[in-house]
Amino acid sequence: MRLRRKKNTPIRFERCADYTLKTEGLKERFYQEFDSEKPLEMEIGSGKGRFIVTLAEQAPEKQFISIERVIDCIVMAMEKAQRKELKNIKFFCLDAGELTEYFPAECADVIYLNFSDPWPKARYAKRRLTHRRMVEKFLPLLKEEGKICFKTDNRPLFDFSVEEFTEMGFRLEELTYDLHSTDTPNVMTEYEERFSSMGTPINRFVAYPTEATYKFFEQ
Ligand SMILES: C[S@@+](CC[C@H](N)C(=O)[O-])C[C@H]1O[C@@H](n2cnc3c(N)ncnc32)[C@H](O)[C@@H]1O
Repeated sequence: MRLRRKKNTPIRFERCADYTLKTEGLKERFYQEFDSEKPLEMEIGSGKGRFIVTLAEQAPEKQFISIERVIDCIVMAMEKAQRKELKNIKFFCLDAGELTEYFPAECADVIYLNFSDPWPKARYAKRRLTHRRMVEKFLPLLKEEGKICFKTDNRPLFDFSVEEFTEMGFRLEELTYDLHSTDTPNVMTEYEERFSSMGTPINRFVAYPTEATYKFFEQ
């Protein structure tokens, strides 16, 4: 699913086309495009890309993938990477629900979910990226020893996610209701900057799949 498109987006997208790859056949040629020896980190719902582009800049020895379903946003992220002439990041305008069509199993060491849309109404809960039905769709991409890092300003979404990940059998570590008061190294996202400047505390956990997680999804 691709949403919204400003008039000049296709031209801007074309100008930074080096920062994406054809999704056709990507799963089969993934390790021609990416180095299997290097760590690979992926953000789902990157928005305008400040977080993942900064990580890529800070860690040239790693590879990064940004997933965002709104093309107007991902173009801005691609332009950021282009301005910095980064060589270790690619962007894909895709929905989280379709990732296993394009990426091979167990390709990612880390999956980041930052300030995911909260979908506060119960009837839309299944659209939350931390809902089990969504996690089931992208979990196959994560290496067994990998981790999912989640942060949000939204306390109800955070509480829901803690419960949901616990029920899915993940082991939760580094759980905090006030990330900025800890000494955890942190790269701010666009949303994080906005909410923390208004005094909203940032919640975060790191989730590790366990045997119970894989059993949970076998059912
Ligand atoms: C609230 S914004 C946060 C953006 C950024 N992570 C930040 O912290 O500044 C959530 C982003 O996730 C994207 N998103 C939501 N659901 C998605 C999905 N199913 N697949 C891909 N992207 C999604 C939205 O388009 C939006 O850009």
